[in-house]
Amino acid sequence: MKTIISPSLLACDFLNIEQELSHFSGISDFWFHLDIMDGHFVPNLTFGIPIVKMISLKTDVLLDAHLMVGNPEFHMYEMKDFGLHNFSFHFEASRNPLALIKEVKKYYPSVGISIKPGTPVSSLSKDILSSIDLLLVMSVEPGFGGQSFIEETYSKLNEIKKIKERYSIDFMVQVDGGVSDGNASKLIKHGVSNLVAGSYIFKDGPSKYIQKVNSLRS
Ligand code: DX5
Ligand code: ZN
Repeated sequence: MKTIISPSLLACDFLNIEQELSHFSGISDFWFHLDIMDGHFVPNLTFGIPIVKMISLKTDVLLDAHLMVGNPEFHMYEMKDFGLHNFSFHFEASRNPLALIKEVKKYYPSVGISIKPGTPVSSLSKDILSSIDLLLVMSVEPGFGGQSFIEETYSKLNEIKKIKERYSIDFMVQVDGGVSDGNASKLIKHGVSNLVAGSYIFKDGPSKYIQKVNSLRS
């Protein structure tokens, strides 16, 4: 399967989101990653339900919501009719992740769970890992774009590979934070099938967007 590239709109020009989306037309195996932060689970605040709804009305690209909020249940129900493809919430933010996974599955084609750099893979039970479509491995502390990739992520990815083999389960592995052409191929070799990139894709302007996306796959 081709690696999916998910530009994080956190790094785009927020005052021209519709135009920013249009610069990516014609690419396949491609999602838009929406970083929803509440100033509570993470210190930063980005955009919320009304903006996500507006974005969903402006694009046919699959949308991937990354919830960095203290109450993901609330957002899950509020956004359930927006046609989002994937809904990822943080393991650390949920009292009963398995129950929430089951609930998300009722409304979204894909459910993801995310772990912060300090959360070991072993925190996730076999039941959780067997129920998700996507595991979002944060390779920076969630909250801000433009941070440096944490190298310990590779050992986590090795561990995930072994668990998938041991239990014969499959889910997409997504890495988010500090991703660029300098680490993309190594990440893919470590079993990553979905790369989120914000500053790397957006920093040199629209004329480079598609080239940047393609550079992460090769
Ligand atoms: C960080 C967000 C990321 C962020 C990635 O909390 O989850 O999606 O936008 O940005 P870069 O690629 O700049 O590290
Ligand atoms: Zn993210």
